[in-house]
Amino acid sequence: MGSISEGTRRVSKVDGARVLVYKDRERLFGEAAAPFLDLARNRDIRHPVVGFATGGTMVPLYKRIVSEVKANRISLRHVIPFNLDEYLGMDPRNPDSYRNYMKVNLEDLTDIRSTHLPGRDVLSFERSIKDAGGIDLQYLGIGTNGHIAFNEPGTPFDSRTHIVDLADSTIHDNAKYINNGSSPTRASTMGIGTILESRSIILIATGVAKAEIIREALEEPITEHVPASIVRMHPRATFMLDEEAASQLRH
Ligand code: F6R
Repeated sequence: MGSISEGTRRVSKVDGARVLVYKDRERLFGEAAAPFLDLARNRDIRHPVVGFATGGTMVPLYKRIVSEVKANRISLRHVIPFNLDEYLGMDPRNPDSYRNYMKVNLEDLTDIRSTHLPGRDVLSFERSIKDAGGIDLQYLGIGTNGHIAFNEPGTPFDSRTHIVDLADSTIHDNAKYINNGSSPTRASTMGIGTILESRSIILIATGVAKAEIIREALEEPITEHVPASIVRMHPRATFMLDEEAASQLRH
């Protein structure tokens, strides 16, 4: 993967995917927010369908979206939002729930409607995505074990929305976000097959803790042991990385 320098950004291609490495996180999150804002402003699309992720990586993305929406008076009322995953058995009013994360980071600060989150009824979640016309733009983070959404290593690439027992490493990684009760061990998650049907995907990784798994996802053979590795075969996927997350890439 040869790369081209464009100011504070390096651009390369791995299989179908663009890989963008940023010196400057401001620029990274500005460019990550832009396709969402373009969809929201596009008068030809009645109801853009957007898939959101939670987690620490995404907090600056929502900050950027909120500031652009306010500065440019963009309405998000017509956007149909979906989220990748939610803990099972957690009260939605629990501040640690992904329901609350979306409320605090986006819903209370804009006019976007309340997001669809997967729950026990996985079929109805799948049906809602279909009824909405499919996802136009899906944001993804990546776990240190390579998971996307809560599709842990070994999940089939054609999986649909399902209930999952979280990997020990995920329970450990997420413990830092859990302030009310014990770390959840089960979740409902969009499947990898469901995610790959999105018309475009932006995967964001920042920080040195993601460097090794980003190398595996982009430079090692594609395998179900590294769920994120399949994202590079998507025809409209972009990996947006800061220098730290890209620091183990050889090429
Ligand atoms: C969250 C999600 C997860 C996270 C991943 C990274 O909705 O789907 O896959 O994106 O665990 O989390 P952070 O950003 O906290 O490192």
